[in-house]
Amino acid sequence: MVTLSKRVQSVSLSANAAARQLTRQLKEQGVDILDLTTGEPDFDTPSHIRQAAVAAMEAGETRYTPTNGTAPLRKAVQAKLHNENRLDYELGQICIANGAKQIIFNAFAATLNEGDEVIVPVPYWPTFPDSVRFNGGEAVLLTCPLEQHYKLQPQQLAQAITTKTRWLVLNNPGNPSGMAYSAEELTALATVLRDHPDVLIMLDELYEHILFDGREHVSLMHVAPDLVDRILLVGGASKTYAMTGWRIGFGAGPKALIDAMVVVQSQNSSGASAISQAAAAAAFNGGLDFLTPQREAYQDRRDAIMALLKPLAEIEVLNPDGAFFIFCRCAGLLGKTRPDGQKIESEQDVLNYLLESGVSGVAGSAYGLSPYFRLSIATDIDTVREAGRRIAHACAVLK
Ligand SMILES: Cc1ncc(COP(=O)(O)O)c(C=O)c1O
Repeated sequence: MVTLSKRVQSVSLSANAAARQLTRQLKEQGVDILDLTTGEPDFDTPSHIRQAAVAAMEAGETRYTPTNGTAPLRKAVQAKLHNENRLDYELGQICIANGAKQIIFNAFAATLNEGDEVIVPVPYWPTFPDSVRFNGGEAVLLTCPLEQHYKLQPQQLAQAITTKTRWLVLNNPGNPSGMAYSAEELTALATVLRDHPDVLIMLDELYEHILFDGREHVSLMHVAPDLVDRILLVGGASKTYAMTGWRIGFGAGPKALIDAMVVVQSQNSSGASAISQAAAAAAFNGGLDFLTPQREAYQDRRDAIMALLKPLAEIEVLNPDGAFFIFCRCAGLLGKTRPDGQKIESEQDVLNYLLESGVSGVAGSAYGLSPYFRLSIATDIDTVREAGRRIAHACAVLK
């Protein structure tokens, strides 16, 4: 008998992965399902980045790397932060890990003691609360429903901070909401944070470059530069460069925190893959021109599905500012009767009905908010449009 630790029992396998797996199984059985569960770009990693990986392999860059990341990659991240974000960090304030996910884990492992609190706005990317719990902390979940555009309000934050609060997590633009905070909204949050100098801020800006309608990324760093000494900026290669499988993320922040995070990493994975780091250095050094058509493609897909979802009385949906998700409230479907006579009584019933109607998404409960569901638009526009049509039809035939 294997006795499991309390820590591992406090977290679960990703609901997203479970939804994806079920979809894959059904597709293998020949069921006609459009998969809108994916959380990664459908584009290939750009060629110049792949070439850099090949060159690194051929040059023998196949050995252990420094735990905090190779010098060329940390320099590339430093230059990226300077050029794209107007932020200046010393090299010692930057570390590299196996994805942003590991940066987040390392930060909580390095700072949380049993019972420490971390404020996580809801809906959240599930790793935030689970990583807190795994590292002995308590996730304080603040519900930010559609009415507040899924954004944390300053009074909510002020009321939630206690003497035990160690971190606020801010994910901007957000997964699953797709919402981006304005300068005014960030300024208001900064005002609250100034009253609590011991609270650290985890700023996850992984989707900074996937923004629509000509929107420019606005960071808490810019509206409140005085907070920089307690901000851990979390970034990575996964979303911008379609590099999810290369597993490269970075953290930039106070040196003492970065040093402690590197100690954590030294005991669980050591430095990230040499080849991936060479590729990521080429990515961060290579500019963002390649991204324009991808951003346009995401926006076209968003517009195509929004045109179909917006008119539906049963589904409430906001136009996402960025990322590649559409987050829908489905309270209007509860209580309706399906053509086969079954009643839709829960969020899961909604997801099942959509699945039987040929569309798979992820239940809002995976992100802490019900009754909602998330659709990914990281797939081709014909699939996205057809999924919208199927959802519209599924709604139309309800009684
Ligand atoms: C908000 C957010 N942060 C971090 C990550 C993890 O990214 P990485 O692939 O760099 O671990 C994701 C991936 O889905 C995400 O949505």
